[in-house]
Amino acid sequence: MTNIDFFNDLAQKTSKHLNGGRMFFHIFVEKKIVRDVHEKLTISSKDILLDLGGGCGNITKYLLEKCHQVCLADMAEQTISVAKKKLSKFSNVVYKIVDINQDLPFKDSEFDKIVCYSVVHYLDKKEYIEGLILELIRITNSDGKILIGDIPLKEKHASLLKEREKKTIKNFFLNQKYFFDKRLLRYIYTKKGINISQVKGVNYTQIFLENILKDIPNIKFYFLEQPKALPFANSRKDLLIIKI
Ligand SMILES: C[S@@+](CC[C@H](N)C(=O)[O-])C[C@H]1O[C@@H](n2cnc3c(N)ncnc32)[C@H](O)[C@@H]1O
Repeated sequence: MTNIDFFNDLAQKTSKHLNGGRMFFHIFVEKKIVRDVHEKLTISSKDILLDLGGGCGNITKYLLEKCHQVCLADMAEQTISVAKKKLSKFSNVVYKIVDINQDLPFKDSEFDKIVCYSVVHYLDKKEYIEGLILELIRITNSDGKILIGDIPLKEKHASLLKEREKKTIKNFFLNQKYFFDKRLLRYIYTKKGINISQVKGVNYTQIFLENILKDIPNIKFYFLEQPKALPFANSRKDLLIIKI
């Protein structure tokens, strides 16, 4: 089973928030993510936006209300089918099957803003992120913005666990919640007959990404924290790239 088989299976069997690893008790979390994405990208009503790895369209549906047009691109065809049904009332959305491991099938400067949220850990190899970043820059307008959101950072995760270990009693409930959420997600997937055993994800470090970004001309970049209420805020950051 490939990652794409997993996301197709997930879309067919759940078609809900689980496509983004979010559970039913992560109440309003998508709205919080969209508010955060909206602020970081300063989306305007004229913007043409790419939601890369947009999956079942859980985030896309909010973005559509804020900009001129969204292209929802994903490699898992079943997620696109679910999104098409979910977003059928919108006329300003187009769909495309796209593999983030390959050159992207878009023209230069086609988009004003790009969001790629909770996706880059599914690249086949972490080194492929350089090619993806260059492609994202190519297809973005000058002055345009790219948000690669929810990037798992090894050092952030490690320092969180280390910090909590120092005050185990004080952090008892936080620790329990962290492991409970993980186990519950695994349990729900298993109950629905979704095989997660072969899902592969890559991890990054900030320095690895900075070393790639520092050599790219005509961009500014920032690593941004997520609001604390987001499920993975403890171990992930967002990367904002501005094309100048
Ligand atoms: C965790 S989901 C995130 C979905 C959506 N961005 C969100 O935040 O709700 C990851 C998405 O990445 C997509 N994906 C994984 N590998 C991909 C690839 N090689 N090319 C394009 N999309 C991919 C999956 O199909 C899935 O829809």
